[in-house]
Amino acid sequence: MAKILVTGGAGYIGSHTRYFLQQQGHSVVVVDDLSRGHQDAVPEGILHRLDLRDTARLTQLLTQEHVDAVIHFAAYIAVGESTQAPELYFSNNVSGSISLFEAMVRANVTRIVFSSTAAAYGTPQRVPIIEDEPSAPINPYGETKVMVEKILEWLDRYRQIRSIVLRYFNACGAEPAAALGERHDPETHLIPLILRAVLTGNPVTIFGDDYATPDGTCIRDYIHVSDLAEAHILAVEHLLKGGASNVFNVGTGSGHSVKEVLAAVERVTGKTVPYKMGPRREGDPASLVADSQKLQTTLQWKPTRASLDRIVADAWNFARHEYSS
Ligand code: UFG
Repeated sequence: MAKILVTGGAGYIGSHTRYFLQQQGHSVVVVDDLSRGHQDAVPEGILHRLDLRDTARLTQLLTQEHVDAVIHFAAYIAVGESTQAPELYFSNNVSGSISLFEAMVRANVTRIVFSSTAAAYGTPQRVPIIEDEPSAPINPYGETKVMVEKILEWLDRYRQIRSIVLRYFNACGAEPAAALGERHDPETHLIPLILRAVLTGNPVTIFGDDYATPDGTCIRDYIHVSDLAEAHILAVEHLLKGGASNVFNVGTGSGHSVKEVLAAVERVTGKTVPYKMGPRREGDPASLVADSQKLQTTLQWKPTRASLDRIVADAWNFARHEYSS
């Protein structure tokens, strides 16, 4: 069993991954500045509240805690905000990562799993997307992730830091056993917004129905956060066994349109979703679906919670308790 440092462990995917790491017997230390995360998503005694740009404190922590590997989630993730304040994104996501890597070099920690994104591909030339698709981000958020991926390539070559880059598609759902779920503020993601519409009666807006897709709405690959968390654990264990650096997509390989997600919510909740049609949102590609064969073959990962109804049911259980509390 290993000692893993999870940056951004108070966030949505970070907190789920922390939960599964502990379930499987690993020891976890969380670093989070709580600027976006939630303190109550981290068990008592393992949270270190600090900014990743504080290299000295990070180095001290990595050394004192005898950390074997890092899983690095801490980042700002809102595409729209990244176009309004790119400098904020480059500073937090890129400078924060560089500081973390410096601390790892100083503390001689040489394994890292990095949280990247399908936004790295921008508007892909081919769907389903394979990892060889060129990186061509169309917003600062995606660019920050690509920059960090590139830094990791050089650190592999010249510092022997082994990394697994996981490019996620649309993370969603919640782990019922962990009492964790999606709580972004402001929320921009489709499933929690549809559930909120059900709970409040205020309509959700569908961003465009004139895309070149069967029903005109955008298609995405929705991946259950618990399946995603398990991919991180396989990735870190691969590195701990001496595995080589690699890059993987993490998605189910099935796409669902916005209207299909809406219909799933109606099926699962038994309620009508109030919605209105709106214009396209800038920067939304028509379809983003992962080819995750490489991850399935190399690390024997398999999404076991891939059905849309299962994803929506888990998200709904979390959202309605959240809303009533
Ligand atoms: N959508 C709506 N109405 C809303 C919100 C979203 O119609 O109120 C639509 C979007 O247009 C899109 C789909 O629902 O077609 C999913 O949108 P999300 O905002 O939930 O997710 P994105 O696909 O835009 O973004 C996700 C991640 C990002 C990442 C991106 C990579 O959340 O962090 O995938 O492509 F950058």
